[in-house]
Amino acid sequence: MHNPSVRFPRRPIRERIMTEKTLEAVVLAKRPDGSITPDVFATVERLWPAIKEGDVLTRTLFASVDPYMRGILNEGRTYREGLAVGDMIPGETVGQVIQSKHPAFREGAVVSGAFGWATVLATPGDRLVRVPDDVPPSTYLGVLGMPGTTAYSGMTDIGQPKAGETVVISAASGPVGATAGQIARRAGARVIGIAGSVEKCAWVTEIAGFDGCINHHENLDEQLDALCPDGVDVYYENVGGTVGQAVIRRLRNHARVPICGLVADYNDRDYSGLAHAPTISAAMLLFRRARIEGFIVGDRPERFAEWRALATPWVQEGSLVYKEQIVKGLDQAPLALVGQLSGQNFGKLLVQVADVPTNHE
Ligand SMILES: NC(=O)c1ccc[n+]([C@@H]2O[C@H](COP(=O)([O-])OP(=O)(O)OC[C@H]3O[C@@H](n4cnc5c(N)ncnc54)[C@H](OP(=O)(O)O)[C@@H]3O)[C@@H](O)[C@H]2O)c1
Repeated sequence: MHNPSVRFPRRPIRERIMTEKTLEAVVLAKRPDGSITPDVFATVERLWPAIKEGDVLTRTLFASVDPYMRGILNEGRTYREGLAVGDMIPGETVGQVIQSKHPAFREGAVVSGAFGWATVLATPGDRLVRVPDDVPPSTYLGVLGMPGTTAYSGMTDIGQPKAGETVVISAASGPVGATAGQIARRAGARVIGIAGSVEKCAWVTEIAGFDGCINHHENLDEQLDALCPDGVDVYYENVGGTVGQAVIRRLRNHARVPICGLVADYNDRDYSGLAHAPTISAAMLLFRRARIEGFIVGDRPERFAEWRALATPWVQEGSLVYKEQIVKGLDQAPLALVGQLSGQNFGKLLVQVADVPTNHE
């Protein structure tokens, strides 16, 4: 029986981590009910996983915080199955290889594609891509990663902006919106962003080069009338809610609307994508001859490499700009996600978990 008077010497935490090789992971601690709070998550300590032939073990440098993570905390299915309580949050990461049983990856290489809010991850090497030395590793989670590819796929496959058209983009200072807008400007369109503050709007116009930006917290309808007097040819939908409704009312004939995300609804108790009053009516589609199409970036996996090949030189020469917000420490990831769902982030939201190796930019 345990005798409380006997004290066992405890090894310092640092020593335990070095000898026993433990990692930290963020898991779903309880099912959320409506708006999330950080106590929906818990940080747990685990032993490093053993890797098998073909696998790679990485130490996480950056972990991504993305709005879609809110949807998978619920029970049931959105476009993918929800997590079970106790499951690790499956965020994208950039990491450095610490053990490799895959011929394409040597120790020390920086790679992207390992999934999970954890300090150390084991992944089949076939799912990883090397991050080249001449771009900042964090860009592989933002402008050159999943959000950038989402912007490219939604804008080119569905939006198809043409010179002289008016394109409106919500969540315009985020990685998807900012990239989508710059793609539309390259096509010669007039691009109007919608964002949640004066500061965000200033970045969208002055740095990202949009032709205008509307703060959706102030007179949204009046500002849309002023900046889009002839209506909207392409609406890149990132948020839904009242913002989405206001823009969709202004569609022109033959408008295109890529439905990329509906972040304004993600915290709703009954969020299923089907429970809400439709913002788009069949009559609207008919009268405007509009094309409104939802898409998930993973449906066209070939777009990832295609986008990186196209956009890497633009990022290197500075003609495609991006903004990042980096918070330090994996334990800050839950609070960061909570803030992102109410617009408190400004730019691609990342958690820095370890220092970037010095041979990288
Ligand atoms: N379909 C796909 O495959 C795919 C892939 C990646 C991302 N997405 C979606 O793309 C969208 C943008 O993603 P991101 O990573 O670039 O996010 P983000 O812009 O960095 O963050 C989300 C932004 O949404 C805005 N927002 C939050 N609540 C809102 C509300 N109630 N009304 C209006 N705006 C609100 C906020 O910006 P403001 O303060 O500016 O309003 C917030 O900063 C999300 O909906 C995401 O789920 C879809």
